[in-house]
Amino acid sequence: MRKILLHLDSDPLASVFDRIVAIDAGVDEVLSYGGVRPEQVQTLVHGAIFTRGPKDLKSSAIFIGGSDVSAGESLLEEVRRHLLPQFGLRVSVLLDANGANTTAAAAVRAAARHIELNGAPALVLGGTGPVGQRVARLLARQGAEVRVGSRQRARAEKVCEAIRGKFPNARLEPTGTGSSLELQSALVGRALVIAAGAAGAVLLSRTDRAGCSSLKNLIDLNAVPPLSIEGVEVIDKGKERDGIICYGAIGVGDTKMKIHKAAIAKLFESNDQIMDAEEVYALASTI
Ligand SMILES: NC(=O)c1ccc[n+]([C@@H]2O[C@H](COP(=O)([O-])OP(=O)(O)OC[C@H]3O[C@@H](n4cnc5c(N)ncnc54)[C@H](OP(=O)(O)O)[C@@H]3O)[C@@H](O)[C@H]2O)c1
Repeated sequence: MRKILLHLDSDPLASVFDRIVAIDAGVDEVLSYGGVRPEQVQTLVHGAIFTRGPKDLKSSAIFIGGSDVSAGESLLEEVRRHLLPQFGLRVSVLLDANGANTTAAAAVRAAARHIELNGAPALVLGGTGPVGQRVARLLARQGAEVRVGSRQRARAEKVCEAIRGKFPNARLEPTGTGSSLELQSALVGRALVIAAGAAGAVLLSRTDRAGCSSLKNLIDLNAVPPLSIEGVEVIDKGKERDGIICYGAIGVGDTKMKIHKAAIAKLFESNDQIMDAEEVYALASTI
């Protein structure tokens, strides 16, 4: 049975990146649809689940991409609604809109190589973006005490509420990071900082972190100069700088690619998986 991936993308042009990764992960045929809206999902899902018998449906799967993670989440909800598990008519589904799940999983795995996450004092800069929100969620699920940073504290508060809505035990604290004073106060006692800010935005200067003696691990996901954490290089991968273990976006990106390919390959092991942040992270932990 040929492995067929139905690629649903909320952007007008379905992602070339995601198509190539799928092929490199062993998919035989990628059927890419761009500009997909929720009301179009039923027909697309039916095309996937009514063409092969239940035993063969593990050779069909769905990937949801696109730069808008909320749009991707809506597509995932809609896909779920149109699977027919009671008849075995379902396929496995991976959500990785904006690369958010695989990138966040790679970042948190990088941290886990050096720090016991359970109880770890962490700060996520750019914590309101799609990647930052997932980083915060994954760290909190591992038992970390997470400060979620935003230039507007109210935005961080909303993110914390949304995560607590799903995971009530999550230890989260919103924090403003709009000024040097706020940043320095957000850094107090933090061992781990993950910067998931917009491309090309500096979020943490050397001066602002100079007085923070608790720092052990800095991870910057931005690859576009200027980088988000001053002093971390884009290719750093566990590089020690002044006693702090550093990762840059390329250092994390290598693991992200491995996770992305492994997640695609896993879709074809059975037809009953829904892979979102936690499932992708669980897989990442085995790589
Ligand atoms: N390495 C990889 O494989 C990979 C894959 C995907 C993404 N990425 C990178 O991961 C990072 C996060 O991605 P994303 O899509 O989640 O980012 P995003 O939505 O573009 O931005 C994240 C947050 O950054 C803050 N921000 C925006 N402009 C800013 C500015 N000028 N100064 C300071 N903060 C600013 C905003 O938070 P507030 O307004 O709340 O402060 C925003 O919510 C990006 O750098 C992206 O390029 C890397």
